Amino acid sequence: MTLPASRPEPQTPAQTSFAADVRHGLLHAPQKELPSMYLYDEVGSALFEVITVLPEYGVTRSEERLLTRYANEIVEALPADVTVAELGSGSGRKTRRILEALCRKRPTSYCPIEISRTALQLCRRELADIERISIVGYERDYLAGLAEVSRQRKNGERLLVLFLGSTIGNFARLAATRFLREIRAMLRPGDTLLLGTDLVKPVDTLIAAYDDSIGATAAFNLNLLSRINRELDGDFDLHDFEHVARFNPDARSVEMHLRAKRHVHAHVGAARLDIDMEEGETIWTESSHKYHADEIPAIAADAGFTCARQWVEKEWGFAESLLAVA
Ligand code: AVJ
Repeated sequence: MTLPASRPEPQTPAQTSFAADVRHGLLHAPQKELPSMYLYDEVGSALFEVITVLPEYGVTRSEERLLTRYANEIVEALPADVTVAELGSGSGRKTRRILEALCRKRPTSYCPIEISRTALQLCRRELADIERISIVGYERDYLAGLAEVSRQRKNGERLLVLFLGSTIGNFARLAATRFLREIRAMLRPGDTLLLGTDLVKPVDTLIAAYDDSIGATAAFNLNLLSRINRELDGDFDLHDFEHVARFNPDARSVEMHLRAKRHVHAHVGAARLDIDMEEGETIWTESSHKYHADEIPAIAADAGFTCARQWVEKEWGFAESLLAVA
């Protein structure tokens, strides 16, 4: 008996949904698109860490300055005894400030929620040395993870949810409000949400932040095609594409696209997909929405929160808002 020459590898559930999303997004007309969450495989996450230290990308440093400067004030504004749940564990560098301030007062539980196991491990390694902290990671998507943390808590235990780094900017405005509502539905009176948002600033500053001079953001963006090649048996030639960052004034967002420099034909085996792109056609890979600080209280109210406090960093333009269950 001979086996068929090539049998497709069995797919994990994660690969199956990646394949379905790629298929759906690349068949989407008129604008091809890919969900930005797929930018963060191991290579993409490492490239994002590089982006956070680029001179042009002020977002991360600005938030770090805020959290360093105001950690004690933020902690003073919270109820006495909180468990911390963070949506996206990041590198742990920013969160450290808050956790240290909390743990100085009393032993504190920290529950990072993250779909990437690598990211969870990194964050544990980064934060484990904080005295009186106990870390329990949740390898889940944000809402499923938060539901579990909320369900497992004891009577009277209050949650502080951290949603930092302007990750909310990746949602379209209406979707952002909807997402906040879903968070709100899992919270109880006395719970809080600390929300980080990057603020509107001059367009040239924004474009430079998403199209840096050494090409780190371009590599971060192009890696998405390379990931499709690696994981889904695709045959994109990365030389056929260039990174584009453009400002969308109606949405107040910076959009990242991958633009075909010439006619492209590509095949993605695991998605049973063949596509053609014309020269100049783009795949939209990410939007980063920018906010005015005074928009946040209205959005919060729409989602069932009140904006209790706000801290604004003016050098770059970033806001940390403390939302309380209304
Ligand atoms: C991690 C989503 C906040 O949108 O600024 C950085 C990701 N993309 N450069 C952002 C990103 C391109 C970043 N967030």
